[in-house]
Amino acid sequence: MTQYHLNGRTALVTGGAQGLGEGMAHALAEAGARVVVADLQGELGAKVAESLGGPQAGNHGFVQLDVTDEASWQNAVVAAADDFGGLDVLVNNADVEISSLITEVDPKDIRTMLEVNFLGTALGIKHGLRAMRPDGVAGKGGSIINISSVAATIAFPGISIYSATKSAVDRLTRVASMEAGKLGYGVRVNCIYPGLVPTAMGAGLASDMAELGLFGSPEEAVGAVIDLTPSGRLGEVADMADAVVFLASDASRFVNGVGLPVDGGMGM
Ligand SMILES: NC(=O)c1ccc[n+]([C@@H]2O[C@H](COP(=O)([O-])OP(=O)(O)OC[C@H]3O[C@@H](n4cnc5c(N)ncnc54)[C@H](O)[C@@H]3O)[C@@H](O)[C@H]2O)c1
Repeated sequence: MTQYHLNGRTALVTGGAQGLGEGMAHALAEAGARVVVADLQGELGAKVAESLGGPQAGNHGFVQLDVTDEASWQNAVVAAADDFGGLDVLVNNADVEISSLITEVDPKDIRTMLEVNFLGTALGIKHGLRAMRPDGVAGKGGSIINISSVAATIAFPGISIYSATKSAVDRLTRVASMEAGKLGYGVRVNCIYPGLVPTAMGAGLASDMAELGLFGSPEEAVGAVIDLTPSGRLGEVADMADAVVFLASDASRFVNGVGLPVDGGMGM
């Protein structure tokens, strides 16, 4: 079990101000990491950073980050290295979901999801690898964990564009892992496919399904998801957070370039 600890490591979690990212930040801190919460939402993000516990309680921090902006990434990575002791774990979690039938989709919404989910994750991988590789500002290798979705592995109605961006996250993960290995960066790159969790995003998605006329009510949409799930329930924040700790830690040292379903068996 000692291989699961993250003592002496610094982890940066994008979208850490709420929802799954907040839970991941808490779990990484409890496992021993010093955690940098990175988000657009300054007040909420700083509050989460202050509330984190574990052996590094009081030493965690917050950086303002817009994942779609390259200068913002440079600033966040340098802050992690200079002010928080390095960068060993990066969780690319920040994303947005805008539901629509494909016949009704607004190009503006497509661009928003491409910007945050695809460009944001690509820039995160870019700056994470550059910081962690031997000549980088952190320079000690590490683990990058991208948050994809069960939506990348099944065809759920009403979320075509979001699902496509999550499939893109999956491909980015695998190619980044291959490049990092070939070039001797000492960085593993993996992703997880969370099932539906009733965060702001997850609960919103169930309401959207009803509004789009795909299900009679949000409860019916949730029931349909549970029916498709062998474990017979929705996901919980801790289910995702524990998987991230595993992929961040040496317990997963020979796990590289994979997509790990954390969905109770819902996905294919
Ligand atoms: N909740 C679910 O059911 C579910 C299922 C599968 C996958 N996921 C994925 O898990 C991750 C977290 O989801 P969640 O439910 O916690 O979402 P959420 O909407 O509750 O939180 C998203 C966070 O990302 C931040 N964010 C958004 N745009 C940003 C930007 N440009 N730069 C920096 N931060 C930004 C927000 O401020 C927020 O704190 C996402 O990648 C999501 O796609 C969620």
